[in-house]
Amino acid sequence: MQTVDVQAAKAKVLVVGGGGRCHAIVDALSRSRLVSKIYCAPGNAGISAQAECVPLKDTQIGELKQFALDNSVDLTVVGPEASLALGIVDEFGKAGLRIFGPSKAAATIESSKDFAKRLMKKYDVPTAAYVTFEDYGKAVEYVRHHSMPVVLKYDGLAAGKGVVIPDSFTEAEAVLREMLLDDMFGKGKVVIEDFLTGPEFSLMCFVDGEKVYPMALSQDHKRAYEGDKGPNTGGMGAYSPLPFISDEDMEYSMEKIMKPVAAGLVKEGCPFKGVLYGGLMKTPDGIKVIEFNCRFGDPETEVVLPRLESDIYEIFSSIVDGTPMPEIRWSDKATMGFVMASKGYPGHYDKGFGIRGLDALENNPDVRIYHMGTAFADRTVVTSGGRVLMVVGSGKDLQEAHDKALKAVGQIDCDNLFYRRDIGWRVL
Ligand code: AMP
Ligand code: GLY
Repeated sequence: MQTVDVQAAKAKVLVVGGGGRCHAIVDALSRSRLVSKIYCAPGNAGISAQAECVPLKDTQIGELKQFALDNSVDLTVVGPEASLALGIVDEFGKAGLRIFGPSKAAATIESSKDFAKRLMKKYDVPTAAYVTFEDYGKAVEYVRHHSMPVVLKYDGLAAGKGVVIPDSFTEAEAVLREMLLDDMFGKGKVVIEDFLTGPEFSLMCFVDGEKVYPMALSQDHKRAYEGDKGPNTGGMGAYSPLPFISDEDMEYSMEKIMKPVAAGLVKEGCPFKGVLYGGLMKTPDGIKVIEFNCRFGDPETEVVLPRLESDIYEIFSSIVDGTPMPEIRWSDKATMGFVMASKGYPGHYDKGFGIRGLDALENNPDVRIYHMGTAFADRTVVTSGGRVLMVVGSGKDLQEAHDKALKAVGQIDCDNLFYRRDIGWRVL
């Protein structure tokens, strides 16, 4: 009888999203002693081993809310920015549902580059100098007199395609035309900023208003091909921790960047609750902000959450309920993950290719396979997205994590996948 009572006290959680990031969140929740049931909408083939997948898209806010009400969901955790920018947190809040993530207003830090830049300027947070333009002619004139390269950022969500770093004035003019005259991503402004150099890193923090709790640091590899060449992608691999970021760098990033921004959002009347992701760069002039995201990073989450030793449900609850934060502990182990992507990604790619070898890796304690874009065809796991799998190894150091992950990658057999072998080149 007692078991039944304990079970009854445990929580039902809904995770919104269906990529590798959500798989890692589901995986972390499945280690919680406080969670009895996990739903994931829409989830994917890999997630279905740990959660009940619900056939709802992350943008079907009304239906997701009804699902949470009908199934007595105790907590909803939101993965993708699209749901947040649509105001899923506000809608769930109106219905009295507990949900982890920022309000629509606070999510503007990601959905509008101009808002993020203005906030940084106002609160003296280090970032590249910039000017925002609505008018195509004025933007072109500005770029004509700017040194190259220059960074052009569409002021809105653009599925990772809104940042372009043209090499020539002619190319810049063409990009500005697409963004401001042809409304390629919709009617919007363009932020034009100075080009910075240095290693980039990701500092994700759990944030409750002015309270900011850092996660373990990670680095993503954004370019499609080895040697950091080729087009920008959602990310081709990641690792944690980062030996090239010192304790002083971390202290600076927290005190001069993450905490002032969180406090700034409170002062602006849109306090942030959720994960604030700082995309930072260690430039020769100090650490500066490249971008903010209002959610867990992908693929960073897949290397960071496996290192979390604390109960993630307790962390989410503390932020949602505004109760004291438990101690957040991180394992000393290192993690490194390789993204296996469909040939052709980030351009055109085909789907539906069978993936073999996954079962044999299931019981390997040093390897986690997070599904980014997979589905079932009959009972076979097949590719269903651009980025398909994130294969994460863990070990006593980054070299060991690297070797374990690469060995596992070699055991996965699929006719239409490619990956970068040089993840972690900076530290190995
Ligand atoms: P974002 O979508 O804002 O993350 O930008 C995509 C990528 O463009 C970043 O990860 C950087 O590699 C690059 N980038 C963005 N802003 C700058 C900048 N001011 N200087 C140099 N590179 C940048
Ligand atoms: N990996 C970068 C991002 O999540 O935006």
